[in-house]
Amino acid sequence: MDWLSGLYLWLKALHIISVVAWMAGLLYLPRLFVYHAGAAVGSQQSETFKIMERRLLRGIMNPAMIATYTFGILLVLTPEMAGEWRSRWFQAKITLVVVLTIYHHALARWRKVFAADGNKRPAKFYRLMNEVPTLILIGIVILVVVKPF
Ligand code: HEM
Repeated sequence: MDWLSGLYLWLKALHIISVVAWMAGLLYLPRLFVYHAGAAVGSQQSETFKIMERRLLRGIMNPAMIATYTFGILLVLTPEMAGEWRSRWFQAKITLVVVLTIYHHALARWRKVFAADGNKRPAKFYRLMNEVPTLILIGIVILVVVKPF
């Protein structure tokens, strides 16, 4: 789409800003779960975590994910990216983005479980899960910057 041509760099800047906001939430929410898993049900601490988790997911993570997708898709439609979606680095990146999106939805489900005081998983589980977005982020950045294949 030619009218997007002059916007390529602006779209890329907005895409990266959205990615940073989304990643901040994807890294922080499981950290909150680690502490929440150790807080007694019904305690003041547990109730505070519920509010923090809801606000983080609804106020930052959901809008940032939508913005990442919106600007990413607009970037694909720019003349600068014509045909690039066929390259293997891009298809590998999209595969990792799908995994990241599934992870986002898993976090949203676990948040609901915490909100209903139903968590049975140990803090260790969330600490382990906390590593997932870091690994995916490293993979995506290498793919989009180095474009190794
Ligand atoms: C539907 C989801 C996404 C789409 C369609 C998409 C698409 C794109 C496109 C077309 C570019 C321009 C590439 C270039 O100029 O060579 C780009 C750049 C970039 N994307 Fe995404 N992206 C998506 C999600 C993500 C996610 C989840 C991350 C990180 C976690 C990410 C990180 C980046 C970065 C860091 C750049 C800048 C690369 C550069 O310096 O050229 N993107 N994206």
